[in-house]
Amino acid sequence: MLSSILVIGGTGMIGQHLVTASLDAGHPTAILVRPATADADADKAKLMEAFESCGASLVYGDINEHEGLVAAIKQADVVISAVGHSSPEEVESQLKIVAAIQEAGGVQRFLPSEYGCDVELAKQMLEPARSILGAKLRVREAVRAAGIPHTIISSNWSQGFLLPRAGNPEANGPPDNSVTIFGDGKLQESQFPLNFQLAVVHATLVAGEAKLTAKTTTNGASSSKGVEATELYPDMNCMTVEQYLDSLP
Ligand SMILES: NC(=O)c1ccc[n+]([C@@H]2O[C@H](COP(=O)([O-])OP(=O)(O)OC[C@H]3O[C@@H](n4cnc5c(N)ncnc54)[C@H](OP(=O)(O)O)[C@@H]3O)[C@@H](O)[C@H]2O)c1
Repeated sequence: MLSSILVIGGTGMIGQHLVTASLDAGHPTAILVRPATADADADKAKLMEAFESCGASLVYGDINEHEGLVAAIKQADVVISAVGHSSPEEVESQLKIVAAIQEAGGVQRFLPSEYGCDVELAKQMLEPARSILGAKLRVREAVRAAGIPHTIISSNWSQGFLLPRAGNPEANGPPDNSVTIFGDGKLQESQFPLNFQLAVVHATLVAGEAKLTAKTTTNGASSSKGVEATELYPDMNCMTVEQYLDSLP
């Protein structure tokens, strides 16, 4: 049977893909949207229209408005969060989602906003990534303490942003005849979001966190008992980072 999905953060960079995937899979899909968003951002207004025309329901509300949030969650079997990482506070706003899920009862699964490295395994993060990802950890702990069935998606480098740029967030694509060497390690001097992106690049490419995550998860020894996506979805045509890099012209 198809589950009713509520996406919180469905107008965001990652969230819009989650909404599309949910609709494509045929799930009744609702999106919690802030009332002022469409007026403030014409592109997001168009996106919302497109989602509605594909059958999604827009539910006007805000994570910070508890009653409306509980009412929206009561209509859902599965709650997917894709709130952003602009600050630890934005990430921690999900503690309010956890409280609302507890009050609503009946939610079968919650997916907190993750979609990056496994924050329980990444030990060598520079700021601001350390604080922001620390907030993701506090959300994980709250979800577990509340006993809410959940799935944490750690996509590491399996996403379309940094890898095609070979770790240079400021590039438009793969390097052709030049590479950028960033500073002397004082990544915090860059402005957000570049400093966040560089801290993640540092953790994965320099400190080897992505390698650690993949190795630990494959051996089944991850603290969160992770399952490799290639094991979950054997029919998907996956490639390794090495294969991808080798495929570049
Ligand atoms: N692996 C990767 O490379 C990668 C890359 C980027 C992001 N991520 C992760 O993906 C997740 C989503 O990030 P993103 O960049 O897609 O975020 P984003 O583009 O900033 O979108 C954030 C979404 O959250 C919504 N939101 C924020 N506060 C809200 C509130 N109080 N009430 C209701 N909605 C609220 C925003 O709504 P409005 O439209 O109203 O602002 C927006 O839809 C994060 O966990 C991030 O760390 C991973």
